Amino acid sequence: MADWTKIDETVKRWIQEAGANIRASFAGSLSIQAKSNPNDLVTNVDEETERFFIERIRTEFPGHRILGEEGQGDDIKSLDGVIWIIDPIDGTMNFVHQQRNFALSIGIYENGIGQLGYIYDVVHDELYHAQKGLGAWMNDTPLKKLDPVPVEKAVIGISATWLVDNRHFDQNKLVQLAKDVRGTRSYGSAALELAYVASGRLSAYITMRNAPWDFAGGKMIVEEAGGIVSTLSGGEINMLTVNPVFASAPGLHDDILKKYLN
Ligand code: IPD
Ligand code: CA
Ligand code: CA
Repeated sequence: MADWTKIDETVKRWIQEAGANIRASFAGSLSIQAKSNPNDLVTNVDEETERFFIERIRTEFPGHRILGEEGQGDDIKSLDGVIWIIDPIDGTMNFVHQQRNFALSIGIYENGIGQLGYIYDVVHDELYHAQKGLGAWMNDTPLKKLDPVPVEKAVIGISATWLVDNRHFDQNKLVQLAKDVRGTRSYGSAALELAYVASGRLSAYITMRNAPWDFAGGKMIVEEAGGIVSTLSGGEINMLTVNPVFASAPGLHDDILKKYLN
């Protein structure tokens, strides 16, 4: 059986080291490339950070497999065994344009069950993390269990992309939700938005399209903080595919599903 507490100590050490490398990169020049479209960016720092973890995991935990956004890990087709799901920089557009509002995200799953989750806000040195059954923390401070939030007091994370005509969802349902909540915010990093749900800075986060590396760390942390993460119809998230993601404080999750998303 894996010693999750020991693995947790190792991951935290690596995250600090990788974070220092990312901060140091601000002083140099970036090599920026487009992937699937001109706004889907990747930099040398995304690739180097992913490689940093892959090299260490291969040496320290040779039996573990790796699903990394930049494709340098394994070809993962099943959730068997221990899988590290890594987004080396979530919010690359922010990293390139703002040098803030991005995060390093890691979820470690065993046979599809989240065991450890990390979201590191590199610029603010805020590490959100969770261990299955033990709770969630921001740095050394335990996150309070999330309380139910009524719709009219909710501040939700949602991108304007989903409030205009789009091919994924009837935006009118979300427009009504946006009118009824206290406020909406969009940070441009799914991982950070999930960390904010876990820590109560946001009451919910809604998106139509997130890949496993966007939500693997955050799902674990939100759930350990007492929140709920599902698809937009309330179903289970598939850890191997792109999903619509709805993460929320308890109570609010049910209210939004029933009143807005059905
Ligand atoms: C993206 C960010 C963004 C979300 C996209 C993701 P990346 O990740 O999380 O907020 O809306 O769906 O792809 O490409 O910056 O790692
Ligand atoms: Ca991402
Ligand atoms: Ca990324």
